[in-house]
Amino acid sequence: MVEITRSFEIEVEAIDADHRQLVEIINEITQAIDDGRAGECADLVPNFVEFSQQHFAREEALLTKHAYPLAEKHRQHHVGLTDKMKNIQALSERAADSQPAADALRKELVFILMDDVINEDLAFKSFLMKAEARDTSGDDAGS
Ligand SMILES: [Fe+2]
Ligand SMILES: [Fe+2]
Repeated sequence: MVEITRSFEIEVEAIDADHRQLVEIINEITQAIDDGRAGECADLVPNFVEFSQQHFAREEALLTKHAYPLAEKHRQHHVGLTDKMKNIQALSERAADSQPAADALRKELVFILMDDVINEDLAFKSFLMKAEARDTSGDDAGS
């Protein structure tokens, strides 16, 4: 079971909510593998892939909106992750008949989430926190 601890929170609610949702889908998939229901992976993994894509788009839009200097680099990072999703998709289709495929699938999902999705996002945490806080106080400023 994967959990997002405080130190992995970006402290921008829209992004943290997405990350929690990604964790939830991954936990659902690993639970299915543990319970001998690996056949469900072929249905569950596309949810993960689709939600990841939506999340990447939301994140990139937010970084662009605040003119994050390394937005393009982060977008490229997402492109790399999207590439890895093809392998994950292929593993999910074999998971029902192959324990090694199911094990590899579990490893890949956790790796993508922890090492890529969340660790890399920490790079823009303080930038985005400040930018969002500025936006909020700007809205209240009035005249
Ligand atoms: Fe993210
Ligand atoms: Fe990201």
